[in-house]
Amino acid sequence: MLRILQITDTHISPTKPHFASNWAPVAALARAIAPDLVVHTGDVTVDGADMVEDLAHCRWLMDGLELPWAAVPGNHDVGSENPEHFQAVNDLRISRWEAHFGPDRWLRDAGPWRLIGLNAMLMGSGHPREAEQADWAGEVLAEADATGRPVALFLHKPLFLNDPDEDDRGYWSVPGRARGRYVEAIRRGTVKLVASGHLHTARIFRRDGTVFAFGASSGFIVDKLAPADIPGEKRLGATLHLLDEKGTVESRLLSPEGLDTYVIDDVAHEVYPPRS
Ligand SMILES: [Fe+2]
Ligand SMILES: [Fe+2]
Repeated sequence: MLRILQITDTHISPTKPHFASNWAPVAALARAIAPDLVVHTGDVTVDGADMVEDLAHCRWLMDGLELPWAAVPGNHDVGSENPEHFQAVNDLRISRWEAHFGPDRWLRDAGPWRLIGLNAMLMGSGHPREAEQADWAGEVLAEADATGRPVALFLHKPLFLNDPDEDDRGYWSVPGRARGRYVEAIRRGTVKLVASGHLHTARIFRRDGTVFAFGASSGFIVDKLAPADIPGEKRLGATLHLLDEKGTVESRLLSPEGLDTYVIDDVAHEVYPPRS
């Protein structure tokens, strides 16, 4: 049995400590569980996309867990997939992420399982690394097919909110044009778990034999600043994934004691002031 603790959307910065008090409870939970791997599914930082100090500080926090860990970047860590956004994903931002957190995409084989981390912020960006990542993902997913390895995918944005064929949801999920390869692998039965963050809601659902986990943030919830139809429960937490030798997945929402339910709406003007 492989035990993976997913944490996400911590949004921590040494200069904007609005949500920092929630790190200790989630770190204590991680140490108590002592999983085989901690995976952070992005928005580790408040603003690692522009503040290298945020990346350095959060790397130090992750190492302080004294547990094996891996991370994939979020929009606040490496920028947005939208080239018009003031913080578009680019080579400099990715290189700074990689200097602190390692490759923005990764593969770990653990027992029968293949764990794949993806940089969701490239998806739909048109950056040359988007195609490189898609080719690489195609190869490692095909290898998993050929060898019968069940796959768990970790990425910041959900591939979709409710349905793989739904219309694009802009900021909230991976654009339809960029999700096809992953949806195909899900439909082939290769991918057994898709674990994402970004929405700041908690939701675990099963669809055609694949578990989709919208990981609970341990930073803050989003009240009126999110569209009313974003699915999931507005609560903080962490997610434990149990992956067994037969390729079955059980995912559970955990509620570490001592988390403060911060609401971004209350402090957005300080943490993420509007930019022109
Ligand atoms: Fe976030
Ligand atoms: Fe995000």
